[in-house]
Amino acid sequence: MTTPKIYPTASAFRAELAALRKAGARIGLVPTMGALHKGHLSLVRETKKRADKVAVSIFVNPAQFAPHEDFDRYPRTLEADYARLAGTGCDLVFAPSAAEMYPRGFATAIQIGGPALGLESDFRPHFFGGVAIVVAKLLIAAMPDIAMFGEKDYQQLLVIRRMVADLGLPIEILGGAIVREADGLALSSRNAYLSADERKVAGQLNLVLRAAINRLHKGDAVVDVESAGAASLREAGFNFVDYVAVRDAETLEKITDLTRPARILAAAKIGATRLIDNMAV
Ligand code: PAJ
Repeated sequence: MTTPKIYPTASAFRAELAALRKAGARIGLVPTMGALHKGHLSLVRETKKRADKVAVSIFVNPAQFAPHEDFDRYPRTLEADYARLAGTGCDLVFAPSAAEMYPRGFATAIQIGGPALGLESDFRPHFFGGVAIVVAKLLIAAMPDIAMFGEKDYQQLLVIRRMVADLGLPIEILGGAIVREADGLALSSRNAYLSADERKVAGQLNLVLRAAINRLHKGDAVVDVESAGAASLREAGFNFVDYVAVRDAETLEKITDLTRPARILAAAKIGATRLIDNMAV
């Protein structure tokens, strides 16, 4: 079982990957914020099928949290993360400090339109700017052939695809399937915040999306399905429903019928914990 080597600085990480690339290796990158679970590990395994060497980054990115959000209490489990990565095919771990990623005087931002508009941006306006700058830095440091992101964060996946295309980075962005618990709840580092009672409610998020998809297939109108889905989440015990939305699967534009591939996406809060989920319609 190979244990990955850990790199705290971008220069050492970049140098090692450059040497591997020169030796002919195809490189894959899986960016994460740690607190690794089976969803993350499945991305690593899938990437290893398509690359000779796989690097995982672990960095809780302050730029994608608003001041009132959970940056301070976000789970940090570095030692356990390294242990979990052993045997997954991960060869290198990039685990930088905040000062390494954002040195004093850091003043650059990336602003993305298109798929970044609406949905998550309506409730977390800082979010995609923070994701974009850190992912751009990670991609430029690693310069992988491929990078994999989970469909769990479907809008994020499309935003990163858009950014990489627009910046002309020669990196293929792949989406990995969502790994779920037995009741359908998508694995998430934030599920650790849920009490036992909240955990039961959380399982309803995916069931409500499945029910909504059935109604769409029966011919119910998109707006009706969206509002019924939000009402079902409130009844199930979610205290805030940010959105239940049926969108074009490629652009995230609003749609009124199912003539193009569609995606249903939802975000809702139980107590202070915000959960998101999505499925192909
Ligand atoms: P994080 O939430 O740690 O997720 C890292 C990657 O794992 C993301 O691409 C996410 O979509 C994927 N993932 C999370 N849960 C999953 C699940 N249940 N099944 C499949 N994939 C799953 O997303 C981020 O970190 C950050 O925004 C990041 C891209 C690293 C930038 O900081």
